[in-house]
Amino acid sequence: MVGLGKVAVLGAGNIGGSLAQRLAESDLAEEVALIDIVDGLPQGKALDIQQSAPILGFSTRVTGSTSLDALEGADLVVETAGLARKPGMSRSDLLEKNAGILAGHARAVGAHAPRSVVIVVTNPVDVMTYWFRKVCGFPAARVFGESGTLDTARFRTFVAAELGVAPRDVTGFVLGTHGDTMVPILSLTSVSGVPLTRLLPPERLAAIVDRTKKGGGEIVDLLKTGSAYFAPSASQAELARAVALNEHRLLCATAILSGEFGHRDLAIGVPVVVGRRGIERVVEVDLAPPEKAAFEASVAAVRSDLDLLEKLPQPS
Ligand code: LAC
Repeated sequence: MVGLGKVAVLGAGNIGGSLAQRLAESDLAEEVALIDIVDGLPQGKALDIQQSAPILGFSTRVTGSTSLDALEGADLVVETAGLARKPGMSRSDLLEKNAGILAGHARAVGAHAPRSVVIVVTNPVDVMTYWFRKVCGFPAARVFGESGTLDTARFRTFVAAELGVAPRDVTGFVLGTHGDTMVPILSLTSVSGVPLTRLLPPERLAAIVDRTKKGGGEIVDLLKTGSAYFAPSASQAELARAVALNEHRLLCATAILSGEFGHRDLAIGVPVVVGRRGIERVVEVDLAPPEKAAFEASVAAVRSDLDLLEKLPQPS
């Protein structure tokens, strides 16, 4: 198996810890480096994961550190650091604090891992992806965000439960922003090739779309003290695997556009091909007219968050 030398995971909270575990267990890299400012947290979680290796049979070395120097030589960096939502908060409410945290990390990644591919998951992810790339100055293809595979996984889960079919047989896309204006694309969703619109009536489809859009919030409300991390880390691991094994997967990810779908200078969820060098290309699918209109509304929501970002101190 072709894999990576080192994957660095920034942030050892629920998402970072769970992701480090998934990455180690899939033996995609020689080392998974978990990094966090809270002393003891990355070291403790790394040691705990490492001690499962004899039982689970993986060879990955798992290290924990409070120093950004641990980014040194990473081939892949996953940015999970920052505040998570609490009940009543939108993802945009996190923007200013998380932009400050990510600016420092983006500079450190530029210095220590200048050839890495970066996956950003910190919210609001569309804006944070754009911001991270602006600060580190990497080519757009090497910095992308994760949210589409997660939102699509939620959509696929709800469709599968409604139809009583295996979740993996449901394929489709949820495009746009990782927020209330995300766009589940019914016209491109099928169950082993059978179009979804032939399998469910419009009112059931509408209910599934609505639940998908609120999918993250439903979990925030249940947990009360944080946000989801099992499905998010599984989604991130899917993208990390596509990079590590150069799989050329056609997935939804938050890509920085340069004219695709009629937009540039923003990052938003679109279909992309992902491989060892990051985003190999954006795949411009035809959307049904209502879906196209919904995608444009999603672009407008991201642009309004980008306007908030522009008001913050800019990187020098
Ligand atoms: C969610 C967070 C991770 O959607 O954005 O669960």
